[in-house]
Amino acid sequence: MEATIITLPGDGIGVEVVSEGIKVLSVVADIFGHTFAFEEHLIGGRAIDKTGSPLPPATLQACQTADAVLLGAVGGPKWSDPGASVRPEQGLLRLRKGLQLYANLRPIRVYSMLKDASPLRSERLEGVDLIVVRELTGGIYFGERQEATDAVPKAFDTMAYSADEVARIARTAFELAEQRRGKVTSVDKANVLAVSRLWRRIVTEVAQDYPNVALDHMLVDAAAMHLLRRPADFDVLVTGNMFGDILTDEASMLAGSMGMLASASIGDTTSGVYEPIHGSAPDIAGKGVANPLATILSVALLLRLSLNLPQEADAVESAVVASLSAGYRTPDIAGAPGTQTLHRIGTTEMGDRVVAALQASA
Ligand code: IPM
Ligand code: MG
Repeated sequence: MEATIITLPGDGIGVEVVSEGIKVLSVVADIFGHTFAFEEHLIGGRAIDKTGSPLPPATLQACQTADAVLLGAVGGPKWSDPGASVRPEQGLLRLRKGLQLYANLRPIRVYSMLKDASPLRSERLEGVDLIVVRELTGGIYFGERQEATDAVPKAFDTMAYSADEVARIARTAFELAEQRRGKVTSVDKANVLAVSRLWRRIVTEVAQDYPNVALDHMLVDAAAMHLLRRPADFDVLVTGNMFGDILTDEASMLAGSMGMLASASIGDTTSGVYEPIHGSAPDIAGKGVANPLATILSVALLLRLSLNLPQEADAVESAVVASLSAGYRTPDIAGAPGTQTLHRIGTTEMGDRVVAALQASA
């Protein structure tokens, strides 16, 4: 097939990991006989430096007509002055909103060979396989807000959801659950927030259409606890924008590192934005040690969900497993020395290992 893929490396380690993602996509194209055209555009801090805007119109336009978008990360100390009116993160939020990518899928898989990398005891990690469905274009991220000023030292952000917004993300979650273990946990704060009471009512209504899926509701504070206490019990976790942001950073520790978690942001069309859940990691940017696997696993999601190439997606995921099984580790997943001989490698070498595994299996 032919596909146009927009690449948005962004800032910090985003640049390093996206280039490994492109490397993997190019090899997939070679092996399976596809033609992928890559077009790089600006987003985030470097876009502010070059154009004044964190999401230049040319970037949004290119993404609107592309088959898929591969994104690195945005942000960094250079642009994080709290008084700044233009911020790199606005670029990402406007992109999600502009493309109407209301569903952010964040699968959390625990690779058995990485159990030592997790701060949790390995028996807790047995059987963990969950996916967080985070609402991405509404909630407190996009509600009415007011910044504080010297004259008025008070600020607010508003968390709002309409019934329709809740219903469509709930459907995404139930449909996924039907293909998985048939369980949805909806996470809210219904004991305090009006918006969560609406959320709970609508999710319960939508559940009627999915008789084969079991639904339970959980308060977000309890969910934060249960994710560590009994993570294997979760199948599909559906929640609002901010709770999903927080819980997925927490859940990444099950997988051992933020560097392992991929994500897909999708809407009603086949195109989507694929990105690692980690940020721009200014502390390690430019050092060549960032873990590219979250991006490479995002590439697998891109192949499966936007390009409808499940075999290619499986091949990429298997190549990641093969590289980990052979003991290759970036520093974030090297963990405590165990019985296995580990090879500590950097970003580009990890990309090379995945590519070699792909070629070996072709
Ligand atoms: C994420 C990030 C973003 C978010 C930031 C960079 C705006 O933390 O994708 O999880 O909060 O959505
Ligand atoms: Mg986040």
